[in-house]
Amino acid sequence: MRNTARKTLALAVGIVATLAAFSGQAIAAPPPPDSGNLTPMVVGGTQAAKGEFPWMVRLSMGCGGAMLTDQLVLTAAHCVTRTGNNTSITATYGVTDLQDTSKITRTSTYVHRSPTYDTATGGDWALIKLASPIAGAALLPIATTATYNTGVFTVAGWGVTSENGSSSRYLLKANVDFIDDTTCKNAAPYYANLKPAAEICAGNLAQGGVDTCQGDSGGPMFRRDNNGAWIQVGIVSHGNGCARPNNPGVYAEVSTFATAIKQAAADLGGTPQPPGKVFENLTDVSIPDAGAAVFSNVTVSGVAGNAPSTLKVGVDIKHAYSGDLVIDLVAPDGSTYRVKSSSNSSTPNVVTTYTVNASSEVANGTWRLKVQDVYSQDTGYVDSWRLTF
Ligand code: ARG
Repeated sequence: MRNTARKTLALAVGIVATLAAFSGQAIAAPPPPDSGNLTPMVVGGTQAAKGEFPWMVRLSMGCGGAMLTDQLVLTAAHCVTRTGNNTSITATYGVTDLQDTSKITRTSTYVHRSPTYDTATGGDWALIKLASPIAGAALLPIATTATYNTGVFTVAGWGVTSENGSSSRYLLKANVDFIDDTTCKNAAPYYANLKPAAEICAGNLAQGGVDTCQGDSGGPMFRRDNNGAWIQVGIVSHGNGCARPNNPGVYAEVSTFATAIKQAAADLGGTPQPPGKVFENLTDVSIPDAGAAVFSNVTVSGVAGNAPSTLKVGVDIKHAYSGDLVIDLVAPDGSTYRVKSSSNSSTPNVVTTYTVNASSEVANGTWRLKVQDVYSQDTGYVDSWRLTF
């Protein structure tokens, strides 16, 4: 009885939420990455899911950033004025909708602006120290070598969705192609003084249509490393307009400045996290309504010793009513760790990363995500999940 009432209300709320999401801005059918679709939306992007890029930060001066440690945000030098005490910046973490009341905010205490930014060396990066740590915050590791400065990158931000457009209430994401320094320098006169060691270009060179833009500055450009972990390779810096053909986005080249960034972080009392090893299962598993638990396996190999006390369990479950779900992580020896109990939350989907103290478990072997829907009415499926060691 109570459960039925709860669900009816939730359904109504769900519809209102859906309408609100689609009335705030023009959301075109998501174009496939790099399709050259010119739909203004970052520009040419689509909405990121909550929890998809959990280390993303919105800064109150109108820039983006990424959590480097639980108390330091990596952003662009051009987003801040100078090195020194600064209590004027508010960082927003943990949401994609800037009006989401579950957002976590912190005030800044100090800014470290790259000392080489205004020199021939370049280096459009800065660190913002928060008044207190965000306990358990997701962190984005930075690239320390040039290995990953190629391929397809992802960008995300709350910046304007078209040149001279307005900024986005929702976090948008897009994929952009690496563009080599020579091609970038020659793309248009604007790019003639590109700093090849300090800057990395990306976009859809021939067609444009996809790019970061004003208000995305300071946010990360990132990709997967060879272990499947997200790694930051760039910082949104500048460009000639946005998303124009032959006018790429220019990003600070993080690997070039990684040593300086890590040193500055250490001086501010923080240690950036090295990238982890990721093991994931991308096969959908449907979750029967009020039925038996279902399992999805991930086999871990090549990890010495035990699992860490901060084992990251990233889950992406699509479900109409998240409160219906009970989620456990089952270690290779069968030990079970509850990461989520059932609740009365009507919010759809569980896209988040849990931290499990699995230090008594041997890392290698087959781990299972156990998911059970314990209330009748709504269904869904395990879209993907991953373990990060
Ligand atoms: N400088 C801009 C900002 O402050 C970022 C511009 C990025 N432009 C581009 N075409 N990718 O937000």
